[in-house]
Amino acid sequence: EQINKGKYEHYMQKEIHEQPESLTTTMRGRLIRGGSCKAKTVLLGGLKDHLKTIRRSRRIVFVGCGTSYNAALAARSIVEELSGIPVTMEIASDLVDRQGPIYREDTAVFVSQSGETADTLLALEYALENGALCVGITNTVGSAIARHTHCGVHINAGCEIGVASTKAYTSQIVVMAMLALAIGADTLSNQARREAIIDGLLYLPRKVKEVLKLDKEMKDLAKLLIAEQSLLVFGRGYNYATALEGALKVKEVALMHSEGILAGEMKHGPLALVDENLPIVVIATRDSCFSKQQSVIQQLHARKGRLIVMCAEGDKASVSVGGSSRVIEVPHVVDCLQPVINVVPLQLLAYHLTVLRGYNVDQPRNLAKSVTTQ
Ligand code: AGP
Repeated sequence: EQINKGKYEHYMQKEIHEQPESLTTTMRGRLIRGGSCKAKTVLLGGLKDHLKTIRRSRRIVFVGCGTSYNAALAARSIVEELSGIPVTMEIASDLVDRQGPIYREDTAVFVSQSGETADTLLALEYALENGALCVGITNTVGSAIARHTHCGVHINAGCEIGVASTKAYTSQIVVMAMLALAIGADTLSNQARREAIIDGLLYLPRKVKEVLKLDKEMKDLAKLLIAEQSLLVFGRGYNYATALEGALKVKEVALMHSEGILAGEMKHGPLALVDENLPIVVIATRDSCFSKQQSVIQQLHARKGRLIVMCAEGDKASVSVGGSSRVIEVPHVVDCLQPVINVVPLQLLAYHLTVLRGYNVDQPRNLAKSVTTQ
């Protein structure tokens, strides 16, 4: 039943729209609400015997490819914040190419939808040889990564057929947010923050349902962008990963050049590309980077940038620069979960652009769902 397209025309479309349900399944049985005097908490059965070792790690290393890497990047700062442990990021192939340092005191977390990606598996073998504690975060029970890691968490997003990963991405972020909560659960000082995040998780499927109502708006935007050569996506903080992931979606299915740009790097090169023709998405939802993003919007506008600004509901006036710029308003959630909301309009945009441009949505040219060769 899971692999039927149901009422949808394409798997990618179905998988985008089933995110409220896939996220619910990812969290099922893992968030403990707690009674009157009991704190809300997280239970990740696959990690319970290893949490003490993870808490003693000198470093956490996230390893993945493509969308799975982006999901880890989206969760990086909340893991650092709640665990107090430095987190470094590794693209699997690059870790192997460099034979980068991995130590016995490291916890290496391997993120993969399929659990079979050759580069991630090679990086796992390398980390095992170097004595790190290896944790798997996969969507496929019994996959090679699930079998070869010491412990792990299944994301339980359900079968993903479209080559472009969508629902697995949002579920991976949620699993890594739960990982952060579980590692930080013994620290009293961040209890209020943890509870706010757990509340945010509980509301998340409802908020994703709301953001999916932007479908028509994103289709209209796709109609405007149908003939473009290129699209830039600017993000920072929690949403740098959203910029990378949104650009990856547009690139891989709509076959349009697209680049995710760290907004803090704008003046170090990308600003030279800005003119009145190139469309630029700027993610400016509410978090500690909001005022910096407002300033980025002003600077892009001053260079006549063709802006599409994503902001939180009610913030339109704070980000509007007039002219031909457009604003997409999304529901607001707790900062570290906002990437789960913000990626959805970009998934929808990539989907509609692909259909309108007449390309194969579920099987983009030259790509495979699972990259099992190097
Ligand atoms: C995602 O849309 C891509 N198709 C691709 O980047 C993918 O995420 C990457 O190949 C990693 O796959 P995995 O999650 O199965 O390891």
